Amino acid sequence: MSGLVPNARSHRIVESATLAITATANKLRAAGRDVVSLGAGEPDFPVPPVVAAAGVAAIEQGNTRYTPAAGMPSLRAAGARWLNSTFGMDYDDGEVMVTAGAKGALHMALEAIVEPGDPVLILAPYWVSYPALVTMADGEPVIVPAVPEQRFVHSAETIERAAVEHGAKGILLNYPNNPSGAVPTRAQLQAIVDVAVRRDLWVISDEIYATLLYDDAEHVSPAVLPGGRERTVVVSGFTKSHTLTGWRTSFLAAPRAIVEACARIQSQVLGNACTISQVATEVACDTPLPEEHDRRMAAFDERRRYLCAEIETIPGLHITAPRGAFYALVDARELLARRGMDDEAFCRHLLEKHLLATVPGSAFAAPGFLRLSYAAPMTELHKAMQRLRAAATEA
Ligand SMILES: Cc1ncc(COP(=O)(O)O)c(C=O)c1O
Repeated sequence: MSGLVPNARSHRIVESATLAITATANKLRAAGRDVVSLGAGEPDFPVPPVVAAAGVAAIEQGNTRYTPAAGMPSLRAAGARWLNSTFGMDYDDGEVMVTAGAKGALHMALEAIVEPGDPVLILAPYWVSYPALVTMADGEPVIVPAVPEQRFVHSAETIERAAVEHGAKGILLNYPNNPSGAVPTRAQLQAIVDVAVRRDLWVISDEIYATLLYDDAEHVSPAVLPGGRERTVVVSGFTKSHTLTGWRTSFLAAPRAIVEACARIQSQVLGNACTISQVATEVACDTPLPEEHDRRMAAFDERRRYLCAEIETIPGLHITAPRGAFYALVDARELLARRGMDDEAFCRHLLEKHLLATVPGSAFAAPGFLRLSYAAPMTELHKAMQRLRAAATEA
């Protein structure tokens, strides 16, 4: 038999569930079916014109060559100014690098920190890529079960118990959380940072939704809390707030030695983040767009309120209102128990029979839940709720 086959590690990496569902929904749509897709994590707003124009100008001016691996020096400086002024951080240019999206930053960080076999704690529900990213870095993902009864914010005691039991090297945090929308209070986060200090954990803090907050939620980075800065790698940027999804630029901020290690790795695997996008991202850093932000957040909030109100009127479904990001994590455990179905079967049924694409909670280690992205216009959400109600109440 031929030995020319993909290796064992590649087989441990599964395809992203959200991308797979979006692909199926797109296929049905291409076949002429009226699919409502609430599967994707991509805002439905255009890139702010001033940012897009900077990308166009970069092309027109021939500003398209390689940059240093860690990013254009002017963008690293702009990134540090933006992180410091927006989130109260304290980084200098050499502690900030530019990566190809938050995904790239998470990959570099894990590659720079994890030794083979190191356990890394991942709090469920988690963004789908975390276990694969830890596996690719030769670490061992350790999933800490979800705590819906605590609005999806794990207690410090639970985290400490898992850290001790598994001898963890680090922990991945993601607030506001995809998929639950959880945002801890400053005190809750400080208690988690205190665990990291006591147990000498690295903290990789995915803050890609940091500016998308509702009600009284406040974004606090572990890097600004006592004991946090020296052990935290911050992943941040404009992917979600400015719809820079396809532009592939984000920031990694961390102690200098980590940034230098990540830049060495990036220099070998990627070179640099797209130059054109770097130019545009610098404009995003230096051009606050409060009216654009308020407009987006008002639209997201209207959708969030609508979904939460509707879901509570559908028999067997419940929801904890998200405090950040743009996902509704629907608790369908009661409905599924009644129907004798799991969340994956129900999502398949929703897509195939009712033409509504959602993501099963199992993809995020939250079985019995469904994730609905409300990065979709109200007209789509109205249709989605009709379809969800029909599916939930059919005989
Ligand atoms: C929690 C979280 N982190 C990272 C990413 C990836 O962001 P990027 O497109 O900047 O790689 C996403 C995208 O869905 C996300 O939800």
